[in-house]
Amino acid sequence: MIRLHVHPDKATAVRAVAADIAGLIRARAAAGKRAVLGLATGSTPIPLYAELVRLHREEGLSFRNVTTFNLDEYSGLGPDHDQSYRWFMQRQLFDHVDVTPAETHVPDGLAKDVAAAAAAYEAAIRAAGGIDLQVLGIGRTGHIGFNEPPAGPATRTRQVHLDELTRRDNAAFFGDVAKVPRHAVTMGVGTILDCRRVVLLAWGEGKADIVRRSVEDAPSDDCPASWLQRHAACDFVLDPAAAARLARR
Ligand code: GLP
Repeated sequence: MIRLHVHPDKATAVRAVAADIAGLIRARAAAGKRAVLGLATGSTPIPLYAELVRLHREEGLSFRNVTTFNLDEYSGLGPDHDQSYRWFMQRQLFDHVDVTPAETHVPDGLAKDVAAAAAAYEAAIRAAGGIDLQVLGIGRTGHIGFNEPPAGPATRTRQVHLDELTRRDNAAFFGDVAKVPRHAVTMGVGTILDCRRVVLLAWGEGKADIVRRSVEDAPSDDCPASWLQRHAACDFVLDPAAAARLARR
C-alpha cells in the first residue's frame, strides 16, 4: 500500500523525512542496536542529506550505530570518479557525519565478477539484518534504483542496461551523453520490496506523470515503481507539483 504525503514544498518534506530517520536511528541506539538505512542518489535526496548533516551538527544526531546500503552504482566508475555514486555519497553525507566508513556500502562499479559481487551485496544486506528504511527517488522511466523497465518483484541485485531517457537525463552531470555509462549495478525491485519501510521522494512537475502511473495504474514491469503498491509500508513524499496528476490526494 502506498501512503501519500503531499507537503507544501520540498524543504518541508525533507524535514519530515529526516525527523523520521532521526527517530529511527535514536530509537535503535537507545536499544543498543544498529539502524540499517538504504540510500539513494540523484538530485532528489540532496536536501534530505543536507538536513541529516544539519541534525548531526546542530542537534547531536549520531550515525555511529548506522549501517548504510546504497541502491546502485554506474558500471565502470570507481570511487574516485566524480560522477560515481560512492563519490556522491561521500560529498553529500558520509564525509560530514560520524558514520563508520566500513559500515557504508555502495555496489562496486569496478567488480570483475559482477554476478559474484551482486550476490555478496545481497548477502551483506541479509547479514546486517535487512534494511529498516529505504529512501528512493524515481526516474522518469519509472525506475527505482536503476531498475529500468521491464523489471519486476523477482529481480535482485544485478547489472542492468540503462535506458536512453535515463542516460539523457543524466547527461548534464557528465557534460556529454556519450560519457554516461551504458550499464549500472542496482539492487532489484525484489531487494527493495524486502526493506521494512520504503520512502520515495519526488519533486517537480517532471515527475507528476510517472508518480501518477506508479500510484494509480495496476502494478506492471513496465513501471517498476508501481510494484511498491505491493509493499506493506511504503510512503510517497511529494511536493504539490509532483502530486498534481494524482486523482486521490
Ligand atoms: C538516478 C538514480 C535513481 C534516481 C533517479 C532520479 O539516475 N539511479 O536512484 O532516483 O535517477 O534522479 P533525480 O533525483 O535526479 O531526478
